[in-house]
Amino acid sequence: MPETEKTFYVTTPIYYVNDVPHIGHAYTTVAADCIARYKRLKGLEVLFLTGTDEHGQKVEKAAGGAKVSPQEFADRVVVRFKEAWERLGISNDDFIRTTEERHRKAVEHLWEVVRKNGDIYLGEYEDWYCTPCENFLTGMQLKDGRCPDCGRPVEKLKEESYFFRLSRYTEPLLKHIEKNPDFISPDYRKNEIVSFLKEGLRDLSVSRTTFSWGVPVPNGPGHVMYVWFDALTNYLTAAGYPDDIKKSCRMWPADFHIIGKDILRFHAVYWPAILMSAGLSLPRRVFAHGWWTIDGNKMSKSKGNVVDPIEMADTYGTDQFRYFLLREVPFGLDGDFSVKALICRINSDLANDLGNLLSRSVSMIDKYREGVIPSADASKDAGDEEKLKGMLAELKASFEAAMDSLDFSGALSKLWAVVRELNAYVDRSAPWKLAKEQDDARLSNVLYTLAEGLRILAVYLYPFMPSSAEKTWDALGIPGGIKGRLFDREVVWGRKYSGEKVKKGEPLFPRVETAKNA
Ligand code: ME8
Repeated sequence: MPETEKTFYVTTPIYYVNDVPHIGHAYTTVAADCIARYKRLKGLEVLFLTGTDEHGQKVEKAAGGAKVSPQEFADRVVVRFKEAWERLGISNDDFIRTTEERHRKAVEHLWEVVRKNGDIYLGEYEDWYCTPCENFLTGMQLKDGRCPDCGRPVEKLKEESYFFRLSRYTEPLLKHIEKNPDFISPDYRKNEIVSFLKEGLRDLSVSRTTFSWGVPVPNGPGHVMYVWFDALTNYLTAAGYPDDIKKSCRMWPADFHIIGKDILRFHAVYWPAILMSAGLSLPRRVFAHGWWTIDGNKMSKSKGNVVDPIEMADTYGTDQFRYFLLREVPFGLDGDFSVKALICRINSDLANDLGNLLSRSVSMIDKYREGVIPSADASKDAGDEEKLKGMLAELKASFEAAMDSLDFSGALSKLWAVVRELNAYVDRSAPWKLAKEQDDARLSNVLYTLAEGLRILAVYLYPFMPSSAEKTWDALGIPGGIKGRLFDREVVWGRKYSGEKVKKGEPLFPRVETAKNA
């Protein structure tokens, strides 16, 4: 299917509506947004999907606690997620809710296909269940009688249940992982899944009878589908499955499922096995990121340390928060969030390095050239300009490689090497001296180099900090904005400025006074 080369489909998990958006949700969603924006700049047709997981026992319980129906409860909370994503500048193309009709159709269809292929049978489930994780557990897996993943109490179930013949897929999954070394990232997570598979898989219970908030099993009165069977199918629903064949041929398989490490087994074992059973292609890559602790502690409602992404964006700025999330910790590893670390990043990387570079460049163009970006005479270039151009030319391949492996912090550190080099270049070339000495040709070259360096940097930064990148172009007086342009065309040195006037304005990233927040 040659068309697929021009498409890019990226997903976040769909979030349970028993909780309101927190830093963990924001993390995956900002990461997916970053890669989606980058792929759009690369000229690909992107489908970026996020949404909410609205069925299951956990949501039913939460709704009961709030004394409303589960649907009313979901309708209320979904607004919070949509607001949060708008506030964080998330550019999702679709937002799926598992209570939508299009989704019910897709799950029912998938169930039927898997059943017709002989992979669903009726039996009895007798073992443990963790409702917070919506996960079936064996007695052997429990830790001190509790859930090994979240540490909370589990309940004993004994009920009639439909089972999915997961055990059939141990070998096919191991083979797939071996043949597709990029299927699961990072590698250390892949190794965990391989060890898990090598123990052999047990069939999976895929229906429940003791509550009703879910998709009814077709021709299975009294049974609702297991919430994970329902939830995982969202990725197919949004790709047009089962009716919109043209769309699903174009968009499926997904290029990236971005998830947290706690839900890797569902995405790298259960989901591909269900897809194999249905004869559908598997997602190309599943990437499991790490978890944030807060000031060194586990984040939890009972500790009262849950980080609200809207509050962070309101207090410190949307782009500042996005930058922190993607810069502070290599994607995949666990990390620690603290307001102190956030402020430190804002003041040093954003205010001191990037913001300062823009403001001093714009000020000098304003002062020495009445705001008009001069043209350069390459014959007057010194070694410094050559070095900078070389650095920017080399940046492209390494930046692209980092982005393609979701190494966001690596990509940003490469950009900051250029930011720092440009700041050092200002100091070395001392435009104020050139002005005094009336060395007009050199001065024009230096000012042009700064404008051009900043213009290109802004294109690279756009996926991470879209509004600051656009403001940078605006400050340089470049009309039209970055969105909708083509990366490969824009990161090339040598734009001809024809009279564009820079705009002096507010600092791009105001310093945060630490005393207030200490
Ligand atoms: O699991 N740091 O939804 P969910 C980083 N509905 N990430 C965190 C985190 C933290 N401290 N806390 C939570 C579900 N997360 C299912 C998904 S997909 C078909 C169904 C992440 O709302 C966690 O890793 O409980 C997970 O990826 C995400 O939040 C959603 O969690």
